[in-house]
Amino acid sequence: MTTISRRTLMLAATAIGALAVAGVAIAEVPKLAQKDTYKVGFAQTESNNPWRIAQTNSMKAEAEKLGYQLVYTDAAGSAAKQVADVNSMIAQGVDVIFLAPREEKPLIPAVMAAKKAGIPVILLDRSVDPSLAKAGEDYLTFIGSNFVEEGKRVAEWLAKNANGKSKIIELEGTTGSSPANDRKKGFDEAIQAAGGFEIVASQTGDFARDKGRQVAEALLQAHPDADIIYAHNDEMAIGAIAALEAAGKVPGKDVLVLSIDGGKEAVQLVVDGKIAAVVECNPRFGPKAFETMQRYAKGEAIEPNLVNEDKFYDASNAAAELANAY
Ligand code: AHR
Repeated sequence: MTTISRRTLMLAATAIGALAVAGVAIAEVPKLAQKDTYKVGFAQTESNNPWRIAQTNSMKAEAEKLGYQLVYTDAAGSAAKQVADVNSMIAQGVDVIFLAPREEKPLIPAVMAAKKAGIPVILLDRSVDPSLAKAGEDYLTFIGSNFVEEGKRVAEWLAKNANGKSKIIELEGTTGSSPANDRKKGFDEAIQAAGGFEIVASQTGDFARDKGRQVAEALLQAHPDADIIYAHNDEMAIGAIAALEAAGKVPGKDVLVLSIDGGKEAVQLVVDGKIAAVVECNPRFGPKAFETMQRYAKGEAIEPNLVNEDKFYDASNAAAELANAY
């Protein structure tokens, strides 16, 4: 067996460092030293809904519990600001960056800039374009839900519980974001496989309540026979309920509303019969995010994809689960 001396390893490490400084691409995530405490960046995408607030609270609570310094930024729904936020974290010399990328492509430069600066990035909840950046090479790992599976679970529930309803309006999330792409893919493929349904319109509501209401209002006028609304998140589902009621329709009776996220307000609407079913998207990232960072610092190999568990709510369990919803 060949043995590699400590000196050879040191020389190799120095050579890799020199290549990084010279701007040559290296297929390796920067290392993270083992320390008693860390300065950690969390680049949030926006704070306009209960899901984002629950995610931020979970990250802040865990950082505080561990006694780590958290540099927190909110990009207020702008990918350009989020790139600038990451650059500012790099300038402040954080040890690691947790990034919830607003959209798949525009955040690639931020991931690459952190890598070049020798700072490991952990993607939270949303991913980046896999053809442009890779887990285990450009960033450490992705932690989050399986969005394709979320869309599929909604479709499978619908296939069993539609009771003759069949014409679907789909309210998509932020264009170019991984949850919008994947929730659409998972739902559309499964609903097509089930047969007997038609997606009469599919348009973005940008994951926002008011935009969801406006888009639902316009699409209900264009397709008055639509009897199912599938929203990629709770906020748009709640906006769609307002649009239905304004149009004199009864959500849950005339039109089935389906959603993803599972915040308390939406689960209460399931109890009230206005939302038919919700797939949870678990926003409690703090413990897993910081534990992953610590495992990496210890030298453990990190899986490229760490999947969160999501619950499912419908009339059968919503009342019992309400207290546990975020
Ligand atoms: O990326 C997760 C999605 O982003 C949540 O469904 C949504 O509510 C949030 O803004």
